[in-house]
Amino acid sequence: MIRLDKVGHHYSSPDGGDVVAIKDVNLSVAAGKFVALKGPSGCGKSTLLLIAGGLLRPTSGDVEIAGVEPYKLSLEERAAFRANTVGFVFQQFHLVPYLDVLDNVLAPSLASGRKDWKRAEALVEQFGLTHRAHHTPSALSTGERQRAAMARALYNEPKVLLADEPTGNLDPENAAIVLKQLVAFADQGGAVLMVTHASDASSVADEIITLG
Ligand SMILES: Nc1ncnc2c1ncn2[C@@H]1O[C@H](COP(=O)(O)OP(=O)(O)OP(=O)(O)O)[C@@H](O)[C@H]1O
Ligand SMILES: [Mg+2]
Repeated sequence: MIRLDKVGHHYSSPDGGDVVAIKDVNLSVAAGKFVALKGPSGCGKSTLLLIAGGLLRPTSGDVEIAGVEPYKLSLEERAAFRANTVGFVFQQFHLVPYLDVLDNVLAPSLASGRKDWKRAEALVEQFGLTHRAHHTPSALSTGERQRAAMARALYNEPKVLLADEPTGNLDPENAAIVLKQLVAFADQGGAVLMVTHASDASSVADEIITLG
């Protein structure tokens, strides 16, 4: 479902130098599989995840997501493809600060055009946030924010779910909830790629890839 072939990426720095973030990475995540990505800080895990999610064009190599090569599409086509295919959970949540939980979960409908209040409400309930549905992110605990971000990532029924240290800031109870939802997503045929430092993830992943 996700395939990276000899993918490399370098960032150009303000002083004119180059930072090589990743080099010649081959990776694949089949449908129904949960792959964890580990490695030391700065080895390029977040960079790889952005590339695998169609959010950052690599400087070399080929990328395929659900049978499509996203970087061969126009920017507009790629955004539409992403909206319908990829769910992304960022470490810093990236919830919209002035929208309440329910509206944050509904936000992906702006990109997909599928506005379904019932689905948003069901996701809010699935993540145990019904009593917080009309609170904005600043009024939520860290675990609640991460659960809201997960609910939002699932809204458009993506085929692949990418998560950057989704349990990094969470207490064990919330971490377990998030991991359980990721496992359930894979069990239903989705592909999960998760960056993690935590050892608890090792027990749920089908495969662990170490970078760097
Ligand atoms: N926008 C950017 N411009 C320049 N260099 C960058 C940029 N983003 C990341 N880098 C550099 O690329 C390398 C890989 O960064 P990346 O964020 O992918 O690492 P990481 O493995 O996710 O680290 P961490 O575990 O700390 O989150 C690092 O050396 C980083 O400093
Ligand atoms: Mg990172």
